[in-house]
Amino acid sequence: MPRVIVLDTLSQDGLNLLTAAASQGIEYEVRTGLKGDALRDALTQFDGAICRSGVKLTADVLAGNHRLKAIVRAGVGTDNIDKVAATRLGIVVMNTPAGNTLSTAEHTFAMMLALSRHVAPAYQSLIEHKWERNKFMGAQLADKTLGIVGLGRIGQAVAKRAKAFEMKVLGYDPFLTPDKTRELGIEPVESIRDMLPLVDYLTVHTPLTEETKNLIDRESIQLLKPSVRLINCARGGIFDETALAEAIAARRIGGVALDVFHVEPCTESPLFGLPGVLCTPHLGASTEEAQTQVAVEGVGLLVDYLTTGAIRHAVNMSPLDAKTLAGLRGELDVAHRLGLLLSQLERGVAKTCVLHYRGEVASKNTKLVTAAFAAGFLENAFDEDVNIVNAEVLLRERGIELVEQRRGDMGAFSSIISAEVVTDKESHRAAGTLFGNNMPRLVQLDEHRLEAYLDGTLLVFTHQDVPGIIGRVGTIFGQHKINIAQMSVGRAEPGGSAVGVLNLDQVPSPEALREVGASPGIHSAQVIQLPPAGQLPGWLQG
Ligand code: NAD
Ligand code: MLT
Repeated sequence: MPRVIVLDTLSQDGLNLLTAAASQGIEYEVRTGLKGDALRDALTQFDGAICRSGVKLTADVLAGNHRLKAIVRAGVGTDNIDKVAATRLGIVVMNTPAGNTLSTAEHTFAMMLALSRHVAPAYQSLIEHKWERNKFMGAQLADKTLGIVGLGRIGQAVAKRAKAFEMKVLGYDPFLTPDKTRELGIEPVESIRDMLPLVDYLTVHTPLTEETKNLIDRESIQLLKPSVRLINCARGGIFDETALAEAIAARRIGGVALDVFHVEPCTESPLFGLPGVLCTPHLGASTEEAQTQVAVEGVGLLVDYLTTGAIRHAVNMSPLDAKTLAGLRGELDVAHRLGLLLSQLERGVAKTCVLHYRGEVASKNTKLVTAAFAAGFLENAFDEDVNIVNAEVLLRERGIELVEQRRGDMGAFSSIISAEVVTDKESHRAAGTLFGNNMPRLVQLDEHRLEAYLDGTLLVFTHQDVPGIIGRVGTIFGQHKINIAQMSVGRAEPGGSAVGVLNLDQVPSPEALREVGASPGIHSAQVIQLPPAGQLPGWLQG
């Protein structure tokens, strides 16, 4: 039964959905405020986790976890989750990108308006029994210029609201074309530097990245108007808080409003208490509506993943809906089995894997099929779980090149998946296809065409295409009480080199294998273990 841990406070509607998921075999526990060893230990007992920004899912707390399959962030920013570590462990990380957009855009406006009209200090003065109407002269938003850095969901929602306030809106986003920016009623600028001297208000709505870190610092402050008001409801660290405090104290800027801080929780800051400063404790998404939406959406993502394997809003792999997964299950199974086969056949250190798709499969999501091959190829090599989330990363980490080629026209089969692995000693190629919906078949091994079952215990033996070989192998296995369930042979040309693939009901003893290998005309004999027919890897069941 899949188990889910709720790591931060989640809205009741989300919890209700988790309770209802019991009918789908899911049980959950709420365990908030965990850290360190307690968090690490707790995570090993669950298949899925859901959190907000409070809990810190570092590489340390995830290390060695063989059970956790998915982490869902009820919110946008996944900076509290070590995604590299999660990916390496095969844990899919998903978020709920749109649920809190409007609330955060509204909070940005609340900050702009409150800052412009001195709402917080005016109320403070009132409760101190003062009536200081002249002290709190404000500024109106209409006709002012607002600069927006980051024109994603929240940036665009802020722009829309700014137009309603009759503001002129400038925008900068390197991933939005100037034409699209203009279509949104925003005047594009070429760089943030160009924007700085022009704006009365500047608001940022980007993630914290190397480029956006300290975007407003001592140097850029020099380019701003002295009356400018700066707002950050995105991520702490985009503004250099010390530089802002110096600029406010020196009256070099008009005001600063922060909802997010370099280090959170933040209860001490050089900015706190300075005139023209307004701060809130990361409240952008703290509305009933946003929290309900992100919790409901987040629980939905987790339950879907745990029950059907569907992946939506993943931040560390490509999406995979239940329908696509169902439509690809057969191909993923074939690719996984080819990976397992080649990993056992190869000698030497793998350097390159080339996946070639021909026919109908070439128009499907071959990236996933390639990931399934990589998962099979590495499955026996690692102590940790390998799946379609982490296989490619693990392969590339080991310096193994992964190449994908596609060809839409049909060959001998309507779809064929062919994989070639090159090591420092040799190379092998295996091609597979699907008979019906769920019958994987091996149709080529190196240069030999054949038609063998891709399941269970196989004996792969290479030999000379001369009379008597098959009979000898049959006799040896008969003497050792090993039943041959299926048999397929392929040859390059009559009398030339050939390959035989037998499906066996028992695993041959080393002695039986030695006898087969030593038979005249047989060059090599090797046992390959594949999952039984119909058995899918854990990550493909659903
Ligand atoms: P989004 O992904 O829709 O938009 C981010 C935009 O930033 C993208 O359009 C991207 O192209 C742009 N961008 C990236 N690098 C840039 C750069 N160097 N210069 C300019 N633009 C750049 O995200 P969103 O949902 O709009 O969220 C924006 C930010 O707000 C995120 O950091 C998110 O974590 C944060 N957030 C905060 C709260 C809160 O409670 N305060 C709530 C929700 C979201
Ligand atoms: C987010 O990234 O979604 C926000 O920071 C909101 C939050 O989690 O409170």
